[in-house]
Amino acid sequence: MAIQAKIKQLLQAKNAVLVAHYYVSAELQILAEESGGIVSDSLEMARFGQNSKADIIVVAGVKFMGETAKILSPQKTVLVIDKNATCSLDEDCPAADFAKFCDENPERKVVVYANTSAAVKARADWVVTSGSAVAVVQHLHSLGEKILWAPDKHLGRYVQNQTAADMLLWQGACVVHERFKADALANLKALHPEAAVLVHPESPQAVVDLADVIGSTTALIEAVKNRAEPTFIVATDNGIFHKMHQVNPTAKIIEAPTAGAGADCESCAHCGWMEMNNLEKLFSALKNGENEIIIEPKIGKKAQKSIQKLLDFTEQK
Ligand code: 13P
Ligand code: SF4
Repeated sequence: MAIQAKIKQLLQAKNAVLVAHYYVSAELQILAEESGGIVSDSLEMARFGQNSKADIIVVAGVKFMGETAKILSPQKTVLVIDKNATCSLDEDCPAADFAKFCDENPERKVVVYANTSAAVKARADWVVTSGSAVAVVQHLHSLGEKILWAPDKHLGRYVQNQTAADMLLWQGACVVHERFKADALANLKALHPEAAVLVHPESPQAVVDLADVIGSTTALIEAVKNRAEPTFIVATDNGIFHKMHQVNPTAKIIEAPTAGAGADCESCAHCGWMEMNNLEKLFSALKNGENEIIIEPKIGKKAQKSIQKLLDFTEQK
């Protein structure tokens, strides 16, 4: 029996559901959809896990996505495929240093990106995702609040430009998006005047400045689905191409360059931590109940409040 069929059997037998991010391999994305799970951005992954009737949520993605699922569903078992699959934004924002940053700026509302540890979320007033950050900060700005933002400096700067809010930024970055190169992208754009340029806001300012569409993974997929251009140059993790081809099979999808002046790789547009997810590890984790996410209840309760605020806020929209 193929491994996919064995995993489907196990999912059913254990009342488990597979929740996958757009950046994991096409085979995992296909399996998630075929087995009644979901493939989505990090916000919808969180919402789906919370609303699911399954006893076990298996997260195909990175650690913070598993932790978010557990925080929102403490009564469910949450497994990740590889516990070492993390995120540079999460790694670059240790909870103790972040707490000090907050303590030094007590007058500011603390807004953190979902790509953080449970302990950092517990310290936040709000958790946001790339799909919701502008709207949340706009809301807080309209109430006269000043913001302390962490950890992604590029997303923070983008939100600041969009909202004109007073934001103090932690200096983290995504190792994947930071590699996109504006000069090489401008050259590629000139070669493809028929193309629309789609950019995730974790990318550097000069790359964002060349974009026709700036948005979360879901927003970029929607652009491929709905826009008239025949070609799309995409500055985000290339795992997303699977869904882009699915929603628009005739579109030509081109990876934005990561090899401009100063780059040290030909094509870095794929997250090494997302790549750690595969079918064999999924089978083993599910069969043996490996890689369970455990969150200290006190931290989980605090983090739950700041994530729930986001879910309620985006629900009203
Ligand atoms: P999304 O919230 O847009 O899915 O992004 C998550 C992520 O890790 C981007 O690198
Ligand atoms: Fe983190 Fe970047 Fe990987 Fe997303 S792509 S999980 S932000 S390192």
